[in-house]
Amino acid sequence: MYAQLVETGAKRLKTLEEMSPEEREFQLKVDAETKIEAKNWMPEGYRKTLVRQISQHAHSEVVGMLPEGNWVTRAPSLKRKLQLMAKIQDEAGHGLYLYSAMETLGADRDEEIDKLHAGTVKYSSIFNYPTLSWADMGTVGWLVDGAAIVNQVVLQRTSYGPYSRAMIRICKEESFHQRQGYQILLDMMREGTEEQKEMVQDSINRFWWPSLMMFGPSDDQSPNSQQSMAWKIKRKSNDELRQMFIDQTVPQLEFLGCTAPDPDLKWNEERGHYDFGEIDWQEFYDVLKGNGPCNKERIETRKNAIDGGAWVREAAKVYAEKKQQKQQNAA
Ligand code: 3HC
Repeated sequence: MYAQLVETGAKRLKTLEEMSPEEREFQLKVDAETKIEAKNWMPEGYRKTLVRQISQHAHSEVVGMLPEGNWVTRAPSLKRKLQLMAKIQDEAGHGLYLYSAMETLGADRDEEIDKLHAGTVKYSSIFNYPTLSWADMGTVGWLVDGAAIVNQVVLQRTSYGPYSRAMIRICKEESFHQRQGYQILLDMMREGTEEQKEMVQDSINRFWWPSLMMFGPSDDQSPNSQQSMAWKIKRKSNDELRQMFIDQTVPQLEFLGCTAPDPDLKWNEERGHYDFGEIDWQEFYDVLKGNGPCNKERIETRKNAIDGGAWVREAAKVYAEKKQQKQQNAA
């Protein structure tokens, strides 16, 4: 695997012969599918790219709560409200698992969250789009969590142990998120008024392309993929995952009786996959640069939440210190 990557002109990858003894031992461990644990030696680059990816994954989970939070008070029934609240609480938990996995690499949670607020690190671009209708709650669950599942199921096999184990737990909950979202759309398409059916199609039109962008730039534009694949942080490339998502989603789209905003989307018998149109990469990079519809609002909301909750963290810290002091005095 590793040798192949080097042969395919992956210029930046060292050959096994060029590696130091520790780097070579590490790479052979990864190639032998041995999980890397926090206490194991690892190349600084491996640690850094994991902190980068896991922290951004955690930020995505937490910022990802905001588009749905917008609809908790306006859910059409108590049942839908409860489902939405359960999903949002799950996302908060996913953020906590991932921040904890990140901390095993020596990263500091407060520092990484400060970087998020300073706009120097990323979170998934999809969360910079507004949720304008109730149908968006269905589409976010079905498409956004659906895309996240495709990525995260594969990430369960990532080479870093704590990340892999966090994924196993997260994937179990994501499946509920996707199913409840699809059910919202199915109910609207089967029992809804003409206006509600149009609401579903409008929602899919707005979220289709940004959901495809969740898998990252095309492989030839991805600066991180080759090394991440060599270290088995990534097990499949961005384009492979995107194609898997499209292939599984189009039949669900057709079952809904809806269409995608892509005239080039059609089954290619020869390839055994769906062909699809060109993604608007200008839009993708504009949103990454902070120029999406909701970037500023999302960060502002996160900053206010962190500032507003400071007293809770302070009180918990004082309580924990007092409890520890008491235990020490009693010992
Ligand atoms: N949004 C924001 N940034 C993105 C992005 C997106 N959709 N896609 C790629 N990027 C960024 C990358 O972070 C990288 O920037 P950086 O070097 O400053 O970190 C740059 O664009 C180039 O992309 P690469 O493909 O080279 O970067 P990666 O190798 O890290 O691949 C990734 C990108 C596929 C998103 C990978 O980081 C990954 O698999 N992350 C874990 C999964 C994840 O974060 N999913 C986000 C959604 S979580 C979610 O949806 C919650 C669910 O419960 C709703």
